[in-house]
Amino acid sequence: MTFRSPFAIPRQLLTGTTSLASRSAINGRLRCNQRGLATVVPPVTQDATGSKGPTAMVFMNMGGPSTTDEVEDFLSRLFADGDLIPLGRLQSYLGPLIARRRTSKIQKQYADIGGGSPIRKWSEYQCAEMCKLLDKMSPETAPHKPYVAFRYAAPLTETMYEQLFADGFGKGKGGRAVAFTQYPQYSCSTTGSSLNELWKWRNRLEGKRANGGSEPAGTIQWSVIDRWPSHSGLVEAFAQNIEAQLKTYPEEKRDEVVLLFSAHSLPMSVVNRGDPYPAEVAATVHAVMQRLKFKNPYRLCWQSQVGPSAWLGAQTSDTVQEYVKRGQTDLILVPIAFTSDHIETLYELDQEVIHEANNPGVKRAESLNGNPVFIQALADIAHDHLQKGELCSRQMTLRCQGCTSERCLGQKKFFAGQEQASMVI
Ligand code: FES
Repeated sequence: MTFRSPFAIPRQLLTGTTSLASRSAINGRLRCNQRGLATVVPPVTQDATGSKGPTAMVFMNMGGPSTTDEVEDFLSRLFADGDLIPLGRLQSYLGPLIARRRTSKIQKQYADIGGGSPIRKWSEYQCAEMCKLLDKMSPETAPHKPYVAFRYAAPLTETMYEQLFADGFGKGKGGRAVAFTQYPQYSCSTTGSSLNELWKWRNRLEGKRANGGSEPAGTIQWSVIDRWPSHSGLVEAFAQNIEAQLKTYPEEKRDEVVLLFSAHSLPMSVVNRGDPYPAEVAATVHAVMQRLKFKNPYRLCWQSQVGPSAWLGAQTSDTVQEYVKRGQTDLILVPIAFTSDHIETLYELDQEVIHEANNPGVKRAESLNGNPVFIQALADIAHDHLQKGELCSRQMTLRCQGCTSERCLGQKKFFAGQEQASMVI
């Protein structure tokens, strides 16, 4: 894929075969925002009224090029990220080299699919809608202001941070911001990478480094929603999309349809380091199946692995081919680790796996996108976080068994806060 995999060099990026079909119509307001540098929000002013608001709600995700002009920068950042693609000491040399060599092919692929990834418009829409709900659910922390911070495409973390300053947060005024990962299941390659980037820019723009070596007053107070793999609203949204697709099969065959949950794979080197992602994806699958009363047989499989090293399997494409070969031609693919459509669903599953299966019984469940059940779930998760007042989950304080990264250690200590910093090991 074009860098559709958050975890490794995607196959289409390497082979130049990516495509993306535009399926969603988003309202005009979102289209207007699509080409801007940052999510536009009305200015806010911190005051001394005693209200806990305003609260900045920052959606973190990998992002994707919204236009073909953004492809080279997107690829350069992506290949420069050692948390995502460990290239060792040659990272700064190999990263830009690989990015340059892929750019023209990938630009053409994005042009073929209508000019870009839909991830930005979906993220902005989901965040804005969630904030509207939060304003009603949690008036004491209102107004809730939507922001998006992507790891590899606009709006980048530093752009989001400057926007926070422009809107009246920080710079002596304090204020609260919540970093809300849009990867439901935690991986150090995805959420971990985004948090490392947020911590880096926080230090550069308003930490000791920006203040002559001493911690300045009135900085933004961050907390983190770092995982939500089995939240009941997320589970309900997935389950409803599966049920809608099941209804397209004749009633007498419905319970025989095999559900294939598909998530990005990870290199086994990352899995063996102790990354929590495989277990958390499995938790989502089990919760969805529980909600569906285990009526259908199911498997979890993994997509987007590339290169000669060992990856977590079985592969999604092999799984579909094998079941079809055995005569099981009624299959529903369920993208279980994405919160919106992007290249992994629209190209890899729809145009590759399903196309190659060449059987009308092989289908895909709709992605979450603008699903109101999902957006309510986002609001419920955020509301719960704001009510509890916790800085991050207890789970985030535990590093992977095989982690030797000082950056992981420093980032976790910062987000865990003074009280929990000593628990980070
Ligand atoms: Fe997982 Fe550092 S690699 S905590």
